[in-house]
Amino acid sequence: MRVLEDHFGRKFPYLRLSVTDACNFRCQYCLPNGYKKTGDFQFLSTEEITRLIAAFAEMGVEKVRLTGGEPTLRRDLTTIAAAISCIPGIRTIGLTTNGYSLKEKAGAFFASGINVLNVSVDSLQPHKFHAITGHDKLPHVLAGIEAARQAGFRNIKINTVLLKGVNDDDLPEFLAWVKREELSVRFIELMQTGDNLEYFRKHHLSAEVIKAQLLERGFSLSPRRHDSGPALEFEHPEYTGKIGMIAPYSRDFCKSCNRLRVTARGDLRLCLFGEGGYNLRPLLAEDDQREALQEKLLELLHFKRESHYLGQGITGITPHLASLGG
Ligand code: 5AD
Ligand code: SF4
Repeated sequence: MRVLEDHFGRKFPYLRLSVTDACNFRCQYCLPNGYKKTGDFQFLSTEEITRLIAAFAEMGVEKVRLTGGEPTLRRDLTTIAAAISCIPGIRTIGLTTNGYSLKEKAGAFFASGINVLNVSVDSLQPHKFHAITGHDKLPHVLAGIEAARQAGFRNIKINTVLLKGVNDDDLPEFLAWVKREELSVRFIELMQTGDNLEYFRKHHLSAEVIKAQLLERGFSLSPRRHDSGPALEFEHPEYTGKIGMIAPYSRDFCKSCNRLRVTARGDLRLCLFGEGGYNLRPLLAEDDQREALQEKLLELLHFKRESHYLGQGITGITPHLASLGG
């Protein structure tokens, strides 16, 4: 079977799969009024997911990240992960979570085959964390990160959305954390989505401000690995961990795009900010549809564009990232 490659020479070893669009947090930039059920809860089943990933794996996908919404709200998450981990060719299973259930379940997640973990922590100050997420849960989430480490997760990545006037003065606390712990804190530029224009205008800040502060403190850019994707990482000889930057508004961000996305209801999304999705679900009903599914994927990949148009305020059809998993 042919490998997934687009017109611009990009390959796609990485698939981000949302398993639910529900979330129990109310992050200001994402679901400020909480999750509102849209449509039904007919999210892809373990069987459909297994067929999907098996097809992708034969076309070069090696890494699958489970996202949401909040993926840990799926009670069968470990069943899904265990099924994916048996598929030939899949080497890495990542989980992106708000950390809410790690304290209790990190061990089960690790045992199910999940081997890479990203946890969202937008501030290390409890009152700010509460204000941003709607939950006074910072100590609980930090205890969850510790539990994950105990369970066997290494090089845990922390996602921190950079918010002007909210957490842009928190760098010293994050630096102190990274100095002692084997973590990578990644500052993500706030992205405009269909629903958050006002918040975006008020709080978007270029990650360049963080970069300047890091260079000033003696950090240097880590060499890019072949599988780095669009994140930049900075290191410092006196720091155990690293600091990363994800800057979707920077030039050339899309050149290193190595990922495709599938929503919890089975729509293929070629870009976080694309205009359309294609429902793959009818091709996931039976095991013998694999070839038809693969043909379809090759056909759809022709429509992947060179870049997003976020700079012009075109956000595509994504109302908020909970609908698609970031
Ligand atoms: N801009 C940037 N990051 C976002 N996230 C959610 N919505 C946005 C947005 N509009 C982040 C979450 C999580 C990751 C998956 O994406 O905080 O860390
Ligand atoms: Fe939930 Fe993540 Fe959205 Fe926060 S950013 S509300 S944790 S989906």
